[in-house]
Amino acid sequence: MIAQPATRYDFLTSGPDSGASLEARLAARRILKPLRTAVLGCGVVGGGVIERLPSPLALTGVLAQRARPAGAFPAPVFTEADALFATAPELVIDALPGGARAEALVARAVAAGCHVVSANKDVAARRPDLIRQARAQGRIFAHSAAVGGGAPVLETVARLAASGAGVARVRGVLNGTANYVLDRLMAGDSLADAVTGAQAAGFAEADPGADLDGLDAANKLVLIAREAWGVDIDPAKVTCESIRILRAAAGGPGRRQSRRLRQVALLERAGNRVHARVRLEALAEADPLARTREEGNCVVLSPERGAQVIVAGKGAGRAPTAASVIGDLNRLIEAVC
Ligand SMILES: NC(=O)c1ccc[n+]([C@@H]2O[C@H](COP(=O)([O-])OP(=O)(O)OC[C@H]3O[C@@H](n4cnc5c(N)ncnc54)[C@H](OP(=O)(O)O)[C@@H]3O)[C@@H](O)[C@H]2O)c1
Repeated sequence: MIAQPATRYDFLTSGPDSGASLEARLAARRILKPLRTAVLGCGVVGGGVIERLPSPLALTGVLAQRARPAGAFPAPVFTEADALFATAPELVIDALPGGARAEALVARAVAAGCHVVSANKDVAARRPDLIRQARAQGRIFAHSAAVGGGAPVLETVARLAASGAGVARVRGVLNGTANYVLDRLMAGDSLADAVTGAQAAGFAEADPGADLDGLDAANKLVLIAREAWGVDIDPAKVTCESIRILRAAAGGPGRRQSRRLRQVALLERAGNRVHARVRLEALAEADPLARTREEGNCVVLSPERGAQVIVAGKGAGRAPTAASVIGDLNRLIEAVC
């Protein structure tokens, strides 16, 4: 796979919700004019963000598939994008499932000159041009929650890159739904039951295909490569192995050999060539990636200079993912309000 040069990020992040001190500083700041904010999607992530929307942001509207009764959210819920954009948002938060609809709406937000904060790795991975366009217009396009959920993966990669330590290799469990499903399969559940459990817990979307087939992890590798090396790789060219090839297997192959089956994403760079793949591996218990449980994520970052860095945390779920989005929002408020 040949790496294409890309623009480096100009909005480096410093951690998932930077905590009370930043919030206190923001509260103390006299905001002259709240930032008009629209939220695309009010499911697990969008709903969690709306609940904790920082006060310098004024919610003008929410976009959903299905209408909601008046008062369900602190702003009108629209099912038509035109009605949402008629509220003249200055900031758009993307919490939609990946795909063409989200891509078109993010493109519309960027064309309208909005800042964008996104949890949607599919659009961020496939459309680096939108990120570049937003930044060229002096707008922020941030997507910390798109990788690692609540684990600060992109933030740590950015720090390594900025510190001069560099990043040589990235190996991780990057998909909470896949990890949860693998745990359930190893415990003897059927694939259908495992997926239903992940959906009920708020990890898996209505269509879990991208999680099971490794495409979601591939998108995350694309975002990590861009942050680490400033290169764009095509997510469609990342080889992926699907969990659907597995049969429900209590005491399955990984289990029998005291090994743990994990969906492992790998990214390596040699010269200007980048190798990326997602595959199922039966890991020894001592492997840090084998220690992830349920929706946990874990990433081992091998710098060019210095010791390995391991980032671990909840890779999915309402609270950790919303916190990561809120972290981006707080940094945006600090930068533009
Ligand atoms: N869940 C996690 O743990 C997690 C973690 C990290 C990143 N993410 C990313 O965050 C994004 C949102 O995930 P989620 O778990 O919050 O999904 P979700 O619970 O399924 O919510 C999706 C929301 O989008 C709305 N929606 C779907 N299709 C739409 C359409 N065509 N037009 C308008 N609205 C539409 C839905 O409307 P209705 O409510 O009317 O159906 C719903 O409010 C995804 O890109 C996901 O990859 C999720």
